[in-house]
Amino acid sequence: MEQQNQAAVLQQMKEAADYIRSHYSEQPEIGLILGSGLGVIAELVEDVVTIPYENIPHFPVSTVEGHAGELLLGTVGGRRVLLMKGRFHQYEGYGVETVSFPVRVMKELGVEKLLVTNAAGGVNMEYEPGDLMVIRDHINFTFRNPLIGPNVNELGVRFPDMSEAYSRRLREVAKSVAEEQGLQLREGVYFGLLGPSYETPAEIRMIRTLGGDAVGMSTVSEVLLARHAGIEVLGFSCISNMAAGILDQPLSHEEVIETTERVKQTFLKLILGIIPRM
Ligand code: HPA
Repeated sequence: MEQQNQAAVLQQMKEAADYIRSHYSEQPEIGLILGSGLGVIAELVEDVVTIPYENIPHFPVSTVEGHAGELLLGTVGGRRVLLMKGRFHQYEGYGVETVSFPVRVMKELGVEKLLVTNAAGGVNMEYEPGDLMVIRDHINFTFRNPLIGPNVNELGVRFPDMSEAYSRRLREVAKSVAEEQGLQLREGVYFGLLGPSYETPAEIRMIRTLGGDAVGMSTVSEVLLARHAGIEVLGFSCISNMAAGILDQPLSHEEVIETTERVKQTFLKLILGIIPRM
């Protein structure tokens, strides 16, 4: 039974990867999962091959949004990348394995580094909307883990180390690039929840007490799966709003979109500066 499950996961990864390879023969080196606001980077991928998610065997398909999402393969700053245009969230109803399956496929294709971004609420009182934060570490408050179940020994160990989930080396690269660009870059702990409701003020006080600097609804499961498989990770949060109860105003998705739109050129410049040095 256990053997079968492992075999099934590996088989699905291979079938998805084989399909992608039949359309793009080069080996991508860097995976990009970019959250709200950074979709524009898709336009900067050179020699691009675009594959709709729905064509890829076993790939999740977005049923919630209007369009299903696409995988882009090509180069950015001279590096071969695989970019997910459209990401899956657990609040949409997907299981934790489904949300992170694309990372498994990245591994199978030979991806060695993963760059993830998200929009997040600022919990740290020193932060301001529009700040960019390099993720030093995360706290998994989704209480779900994509690695539950028989371990896929071919990919990684049963009990993977998470003491450096977010690569120190890549964080240093990010800080250097930010400094060269004259950009203030925060560094902090990402606190991951399921959503979709935003937090209550009491929850935000708890999160601050527990050591969270920013709070959001993505990223954690993708990073767990990547680290299990030995992929080096760099993560960023765009602080799109102050978390609940800090300001005397309600939170809204409109505010999140407005802020990510406002800072997207700065964020994009940072990402484009980092990719060649990853
Ligand atoms: N909380 C959770 N997720 C978020 C927030 C927030 O305040 N802002 C953007 N994503």
